[in-house]
Amino acid sequence: MDLFSQIENQEREEILQLRKELKEANHKYYVENAPTLSDYDFDRKLRRLQDLEAQYTDMFDASSPTQRVGSDLVEVEDKGEKQKGKEKSKGFEQVAHKYPMLSLSNSYSREEIAEWINKLPEDVEIVCELKFDGLSISLWYENGILTKALTRGDGTKGDNVIDNIRTIPSIPQRLPDTGYQISDSGFIEIRGEVLLPWPAFDRLNQEREAQEEPLFANPRNAASGTLKLQDTQEVARRGLECYLYYMLGEKLPTDTHYARLQLAKQWGLNISDAVKLCHNLNEVMEYIAYWDKERKNLPVATDGIVLKVNRIAQQEELGYTAKSPRWAIAYKFPAEKQLTQLQQITYQVGRTGVVTPVANLRPVQLSGTMVQRATLHNEDFIRQLNIQEGDMVWVEKSGEIIPKIIGKETSEKASDHSSENQESGYAFPKECPECGTLLVRAEGEAAWRCPNEKSCPPQTKGKIEHFVSRKAMNIEGLGTETIDLLYSQNLLRSIADIYDLKQEDIANQERLGDKSARNILDSIEGSKQVAWARVLFALGIRMVGETTAKKIARRFPSIDLLQWATVEQLTDIDDVGEQIATNIIAYF
Ligand code: IVH
Repeated sequence: MDLFSQIENQEREEILQLRKELKEANHKYYVENAPTLSDYDFDRKLRRLQDLEAQYTDMFDASSPTQRVGSDLVEVEDKGEKQKGKEKSKGFEQVAHKYPMLSLSNSYSREEIAEWINKLPEDVEIVCELKFDGLSISLWYENGILTKALTRGDGTKGDNVIDNIRTIPSIPQRLPDTGYQISDSGFIEIRGEVLLPWPAFDRLNQEREAQEEPLFANPRNAASGTLKLQDTQEVARRGLECYLYYMLGEKLPTDTHYARLQLAKQWGLNISDAVKLCHNLNEVMEYIAYWDKERKNLPVATDGIVLKVNRIAQQEELGYTAKSPRWAIAYKFPAEKQLTQLQQITYQVGRTGVVTPVANLRPVQLSGTMVQRATLHNEDFIRQLNIQEGDMVWVEKSGEIIPKIIGKETSEKASDHSSENQESGYAFPKECPECGTLLVRAEGEAAWRCPNEKSCPPQTKGKIEHFVSRKAMNIEGLGTETIDLLYSQNLLRSIADIYDLKQEDIANQERLGDKSARNILDSIEGSKQVAWARVLFALGIRMVGETTAKKIARRFPSIDLLQWATVEQLTDIDDVGEQIATNIIAYF
């Protein structure tokens, strides 16, 4: 075979490979809420695929990821439960979009943005906006009244998540009577982005950490998980926000995008103050430079800038490709990455016995914070990245609050340190780093666990901490340090021991004394009054979070009833799948 056919074969093979990889990544991203590729890598691979497909047109495939916008359609059949703590997403009404919901073509290069602008008609006006990093939503106002709120879905039909959307205070349930919406069809559609602001995101993740539920990687995943919940009270509590950026309908009252946004603002819709009407390339570039820095002070995540041709007539002339409008483009901010050394892998044992590998890094400055630790998730993750102690690794922070290790550097500049391409030969510890018990890994699970639930110190202490926490038994005065102290003196070795504590046990401790002892004992006494649902949550049964505990407690109003419950009875309860049922039965 000559060299050219060899290359051709390789490239054809690469097309198939990329299609497979991107399809999987799409599924992970949209359906499982657990992205495996950074946005940057995804876009880079998608572009490579586009280039190759343009070269080998005979390999056209309508199902290629280049031909479709990703899908966020909720799977009616809930597969999520196999994954620990995955939020349930059950049947929302699916509704066809009046206008397809397209995505935007995007670019990481300012030169390409300049090229795009230079190709537009000379008198063009460009509206610059922030690209919010959440989930797109389409609000339907019929005769001025909010009737539907659809997710993008596959672009042609989406889930109607109206009940959850109604929990967002900045979205009006009705528009003021401007005389417009009663004319013609009375239909107006307004699109925007649903987001979980940083403070709400941080709070949610702190709660999840305390409950050992998996953390959301970024506010976008948190918003997506939240929109798919069935419990509107929980949705309301989490505090979603929404920014709107696009108005559609027939015979709309104005003929520019900018004026429509101003109109929407007058109607009380939440339009970002960052929207700006620009008249030339310079103004656009200044806008990009300004927001590249300033966006770090915003309460919500943004991942770029969107440029839109202002005049609707010009938009119509430019038209659409199968995937995106030609009258708009997104400039994406580059993710912040740093190279640093992985100095040591340590292991953390949690309340449920899960052993999490942690990367201890040579401290490095990233997006304004010093990073020195990052989670390595589990054994498979480490093997996939093929890393070991001493390697130079890339750490990324893009919209994500938790720094991620995205790969190792094998080039020459790192070769003094890095383990090149050879297999790292990494081995996960066989024994619990805390108590020495042989670890186990259940089939289908990624995590290694220490099965010594009764006497592995961090498990016992973690269970006690969870039990006394505010949302559980709400026992005050028993913080981590006090628990540590009492544990080390054999006074507190299980949840039950809490109720045997005596005044002198506590008062005799250094730093505590009579007064704290009395307060703690009062608080313990008070905890005997908390509702059964909270006790159930406090027990710390795997995957039984606060909301699930409430639902179970309603169906089984006492512990005596619950301990004889069958799998069938349990799975009958909303939000309880087989895995949770098995955990409850195993507990008793
Ligand atoms: S306009 C036809 N404007 O980015 C144009 N989209 O990759 C429709 N997005 O699906 C989109 N901020 O979810 C537009 N200011 C903004 C945006 C924005 C965020 C999202 C939107 C869209 C995705 C495109």
